[in-house]
Amino acid sequence: MDNPLQREEPVDRMKREAGCHAADIVEDGMVIGLGTGSTTLYAMEHLSVLIEENGLCIQAVPTSFQTEMRARQLQIPLTTLDAYPELDLAIDGADQVDPDLCLIKGRGAALTREKCVAAAAEELIIVVDASKCVRSLSGPVPLEVIPFALHPVILGVRAIGGVPELRNGIRKDGPVITDNGNFILDCLFGEITEPGRLEGILSLMPGVLSCGLFCGFVEKTRVVVGGEDGCRELKRQ
Ligand code: 5RP
Repeated sequence: MDNPLQREEPVDRMKREAGCHAADIVEDGMVIGLGTGSTTLYAMEHLSVLIEENGLCIQAVPTSFQTEMRARQLQIPLTTLDAYPELDLAIDGADQVDPDLCLIKGRGAALTREKCVAAAAEELIIVVDASKCVRSLSGPVPLEVIPFALHPVILGVRAIGGVPELRNGIRKDGPVITDNGNFILDCLFGEITEPGRLEGILSLMPGVLSCGLFCGFVEKTRVVVGGEDGCRELKRQ
């Protein structure tokens, strides 16, 4: 019989490993945050199995319409930050992770809600495949920008040496509109030597709702890295 898991791409296998490992950390009775993206979806699939087969009892706050819709299909009980402003943990993906556990997030344009959930969580479990771990952050830094302030923010990013690009939709004409009704500016800075400082500068620009650099959570971050032969965990010493 054909087993679809055997046809899985190596990167998907690594993501699945990481997602399942993170789901196994979740304990009965917890209220958790659920990030956005393909690796988090693997964690959600495994959570769904644990709920159905082991009677795991949890509630989850989703960070995007994608995660909310998938959680409903998977019968993961949902709640809100209004009901639970403090969460036991959050599971989320990342686009890049540096050795200090600073992150770039936001390829899925869900960075604002992801940052809210990360801030509310006692522990942040980041699930990635091995290719996401880098010596220093260099990827485009997504900014969620209110449409009213788009051009002043573009000037502001250029003034500090960045190269901003408005993110355009795929199978939609014009810019990506986030779940909050805003634009995404992807900003290149080359190698980012002081990510925490850059996050502070970008976050303070008027009109920037949030910045895809996540450097404020390193003390409570645990990174689960899926590899060819299982998972390893990274934590600050
Ligand atoms: C969405 C994100 C994602 O968590 C990040 O892009 C990783 O996605 P994937 O697990 O699909 O590689 O930040 O805004």
